[in-house]
Amino acid sequence: MTIVPVKDSWKNGTLLTRERYLDWYRRSVEDVEGFWREHGRRISWIKPYTVVKNTSFQPGAVSIKWFEDGTLNLSANCLDRHLETRGDQTAIIWEGDDPEDSRRITYRELHADVCRMANVYKSLGVGRGDRISIYMPMIPEAAVAMLASARVGAIHSVVFGGFSPDALAGRMEGSTSKLLVTADEGLRAGRKVPLKANGDRAIEISAKAGHQVEKVLVVRRTGADVPMVEGRDHWWHEERERVSTVSEPEEMGAEDPLFILYTSGSTGKPKGVLHTTGGYLVWASMTHQYVFDYREGEVFWCTADVGWVTGHTYSVYGPLANGGTTVMFEGVPNYPDAGRMWEVVDKHAVNIFYTAPTAIRALMGAGDGFVARASRKSLRLLGSVGEPINPEAWNWYYRTVGEERLPIVDTWWQTETGGILMTPLPGATDLKPGSAAIPFFSVKPELVDGEGKTLYGAADGNLCITDSWPGQMRTVYGDHERFEQTYFSTYPGKYFTGDGARRDEDGYWWITGRVDDVINVSGHRMGTAEVESALVSHPKVSEAAVVGYPHDVKGQGIYCYVTLMNGEAPSDDLKQELVRHVRNEIGPIASPDKIQWAPGLPKTRSGKIMRRILRKIAEDDFGALGDTSTLADPAVVDDLVENRQNRK
Ligand code: WT7
Repeated sequence: MTIVPVKDSWKNGTLLTRERYLDWYRRSVEDVEGFWREHGRRISWIKPYTVVKNTSFQPGAVSIKWFEDGTLNLSANCLDRHLETRGDQTAIIWEGDDPEDSRRITYRELHADVCRMANVYKSLGVGRGDRISIYMPMIPEAAVAMLASARVGAIHSVVFGGFSPDALAGRMEGSTSKLLVTADEGLRAGRKVPLKANGDRAIEISAKAGHQVEKVLVVRRTGADVPMVEGRDHWWHEERERVSTVSEPEEMGAEDPLFILYTSGSTGKPKGVLHTTGGYLVWASMTHQYVFDYREGEVFWCTADVGWVTGHTYSVYGPLANGGTTVMFEGVPNYPDAGRMWEVVDKHAVNIFYTAPTAIRALMGAGDGFVARASRKSLRLLGSVGEPINPEAWNWYYRTVGEERLPIVDTWWQTETGGILMTPLPGATDLKPGSAAIPFFSVKPELVDGEGKTLYGAADGNLCITDSWPGQMRTVYGDHERFEQTYFSTYPGKYFTGDGARRDEDGYWWITGRVDDVINVSGHRMGTAEVESALVSHPKVSEAAVVGYPHDVKGQGIYCYVTLMNGEAPSDDLKQELVRHVRNEIGPIASPDKIQWAPGLPKTRSGKIMRRILRKIAEDDFGALGDTSTLADPAVVDDLVENRQNRK
């Protein structure tokens, strides 16, 4: 296996040498409180904390608090405290969908706009503790909306602009949002996304379910003519002129909620992952600085949409907390062509580039010519996140994009973890393609077998984390029991990640993928249960089972077995209709890749669907179906194999 040893140039000027990492890591687990008492001071507190850590993973009593008696305001940390030293420095470089379209916003300008939006929120009757849903394209106003929410002490719930009205409605109901912040339209690859219209529809759906969204704040992006509801809807560009640029930040407790972000699990509806203020910000800023070896004045580009946690922590909060310059990109990697990312790197002299394996694979497929068209000479470091990166993609990223001169940090984490938990450190870790390497400070990973027995040394198992870190989620919004049930009951006393992993003989960690019914499609998390419930909500569908299968670009594709109602005839038209139906229910990211008509599903005698078998058939690996003797009707398997849709 290849190992890429740390190069001298990566060590040059780095904050974390190997020695310092080892020393700090040891202290971070042996003297957790002392370590964070010191590093918690990297952000500004109104009232300093005296208590550092107060956490329990014990079943029935799970409780996570960090810096609990400290007070602060997150937007003041990301903005006000930088004004004196870097008011005129660029905070956000915005690159539009159209290559001709870009903007630079200084810290002073961003501060003024956030204050204005905070004042608009207040004038709309939204403040401390209220929930704000944000359904926006990747434009600076999305960050402004988030920061303004933090400024007034509200709780934001960003909903990815690719989600359908139904999905948005469910999230607005779940968080009982008072306000929706959206735009007239989004713009991606030259195509318009009807955000305001979707928002209107979602508000109707919510109203039918008994939840009334009171106000809508609309940002003008494309200038489309969108209907405005008198008294409910307000234009940002009009309200902005009516308010002042002065807004006192609210003094918030460290454990006051900062945001909710919905994410898919193995069962039920998406969960509202809740993050709070103090610990999250310390973790975001600490990981952003050390994992990316971020240096004063550098341009940092995380390509993730603010609709995902990566966009929260590394497009907005981490870089701004550190007084950095962050790039927000509205478009997509292959528009106008597959050279766009590298063009943007040159155009804005990007130093650190952080993206997902699915994008790397897609660009790799487009050929090296697009990469060679740009100099990429500003780049100093590359990052990857979202799913395991296959060695082929890693090597292409390393050789072709990085010309073997740039380190790659393969960062493993989750919506739940708030920020990066495992990663190589550029100046400290030899790189192994595909390995997330080593734990960040205070992260204590552990492997357990199916029975929960701890595994030592080189081993393969289920990945748990045995103690808390400041960025950890605090609860499932409105359902603490579900929080305990989902994360702390499988292996009592431990946080279970849902991932499988391997620790090799050098102590390096390799994430092998989800071991639950969550699939990872283009770096986006999708609960198979969600797609199933979307399918069975179609009147012609009687039953559905959904599994993932290996997909060249997406990592995993969505494979659906569908049983129709008695008397319904299968047809290609019906397949198309079901695809459209799922897109309407959830959004384009949930589009089924394959649909197989299943006269019956393989079930045990007690009626449980045997997904293991369905996965094998979807993978075209049916030689290894294993034991099928416990099936109620073994013959259904023959039919499924016979009519499988994925033939390698
Ligand atoms: C799941 C979390 C964390 C931001 C993006 C996704 C998978 C994430 C890696 C990586 C292998 C990874 C895991 C994890 N994952 N990063 N570097 N190597 N797998 O956040 O939507 O909450 O998904 O993504 O399976 O559990 P998310």
